[in-house]
Amino acid sequence: MRPREFSGEIIDVQPVMGDATLITITAPSGFGDAVRAGEFVNVLCRADGSFDPLLRRPYSIARVDRSRDTFDILVRPYGRGSEWLARQPVGAPVGILGPLGNRFDLPEKARHLLMVAGGVGAAPLMILADEAVEQGRSVTYLMGAMDEGGLLPASSLPTEVEYVVATDDGSRGHRGFVTDLLPDYLQWADEVFACGPEAMFRSLRSIVVANRIGRRPRVQVSVERTMACGLGACLGCVVETRAGMQASCVQGPVYDMDEVVWT
Ligand SMILES: Cc1cc2nc3c(=O)[nH]c(=O)nc-3n(C[C@H](O)[C@H](O)[C@H](O)COP(=O)(O)OP(=O)(O)OC[C@H]3O[C@@H](n4cnc5c(N)ncnc54)[C@H](O)[C@@H]3O)c2cc1C
Ligand code: FES
Repeated sequence: MRPREFSGEIIDVQPVMGDATLITITAPSGFGDAVRAGEFVNVLCRADGSFDPLLRRPYSIARVDRSRDTFDILVRPYGRGSEWLARQPVGAPVGILGPLGNRFDLPEKARHLLMVAGGVGAAPLMILADEAVEQGRSVTYLMGAMDEGGLLPASSLPTEVEYVVATDDGSRGHRGFVTDLLPDYLQWADEVFACGPEAMFRSLRSIVVANRIGRRPRVQVSVERTMACGLGACLGCVVETRAGMQASCVQGPVYDMDEVVWT
């Protein structure tokens, strides 16, 4: 589906994961069927008539309801735009451009999928878990947060998913980083999918490289770069890859971990 610009309406707002909010937004007919895990939307985070902030803000599509053409985004307030968006009530209009970006690759023969989420990096892996379970694949979803309150509730994932958590303070699950859990699952996994802060990617990469044979399992990462246009025009979001510099809003945000040049 080509990205469309439309005005959606917020139809549900749920507090989740500490200070974050899960927001359900309406979309034009056909949007739900077209969306796949990994894609994102660029959201106008300002009131009608205001120009501040000028640029749209990118949010991963966290869930989609194909029958109702609605989608969810998970918003953590960091600055002007996200704080405004997280405050919007049910009934508010919101300007959307999307779906944008590439998708996670789900090879037919990958039956055992390992997902690794840190913070709001949980979002693109929620819809990926939904798609994978619909297709009858086995999913283990590892999630890390500072404390219990920062974790995604288990009820946000399909019941078929094995959900394993880690917290920095030990208030729930493993005490330590989510990446500490990786060695137990790498033999089992056919593919690994990850989204989270840069520090998590670095730790994940060193553990995966030390524990796998060759390049299997492959690791697909969804990276977050500061974005402006979201359409490949401004080059504000480049990622250095072995194939050269790429606009992550078009050629990403999903990359094979081994193709990214990690500095
Ligand atoms: C493809 C993609 C998908 C994304 N998906 C999500 C998502 O599902 N949920 C979500 O909450 N966010 C997501 N983000 C990040 C989100 O776009 C930013 O948090 C948002 O643009 C911040 O805008 P702002 O106006 O609130 O902050 P700004 O006013 O632009 O920045 C305020 C301050 O916060 C810092 N900051 C901004 N963003 C981040 C960040 N992500 N981490 C740490 N510090 C930050 C800035 O450096 C600055 O110091 C995604 C980003 C990308 C590129
Ligand atoms: S945000 Fe403009 S090129 Fe990616």
